[in-house]
Amino acid sequence: MNDESAHDPHTGCGSCHCGPEETPQSGPAIPRRFFLQGAIAAFAALWGALAAYPLFRYMTTGQEEPVGADVKSVNLGKASEFPNNSARNFQFGRKPAILVRNPQGELHAFIAVCTHLGCTVQFSSEKEDIWCACHGGRYDLNSGKNMSGPPPKPLTPLKVATVKGDIIVSVA
Ligand code: FES
Repeated sequence: MNDESAHDPHTGCGSCHCGPEETPQSGPAIPRRFFLQGAIAAFAALWGALAAYPLFRYMTTGQEEPVGADVKSVNLGKASEFPNNSARNFQFGRKPAILVRNPQGELHAFIAVCTHLGCTVQFSSEKEDIWCACHGGRYDLNSGKNMSGPPPKPLTPLKVATVKGDIIVSVA
């Protein structure tokens, strides 16, 4: 038996100071319980921030500023290039707005601020209406009337005219 066989790298040999072999670690170990608590706290904070965002937007987007305070009309280009059953979100001054062309070819425009908590609404070609992704509010495509979900009142309408082939949206 030679002396080297007595040096077990995992337990040490007991006759010298070689000791158990140390394994490299990437840092201090975090107990699983603390990791899970941290992950849950981070998830709760993220969830809270997402839930509060529409209210924050409602309070900071100047909802009370009258439509047309900073712009009276906008030109959205050729009507002939705007197909039926489609929509376009655009800026009407500082406010988001939406122009829709229903399946029958009629044009309608609204301020695209949801009357619930102020999220920006979108067109749904599938359901042929306007909807809000925040809490599922739905509005009529032609009138902007609130049809279902939490929105308490209709979208603010804008006036749409076709002038020399161009779509002109202005304050109603
Ligand atoms: Fe709640 Fe639009 S912000 S339904």
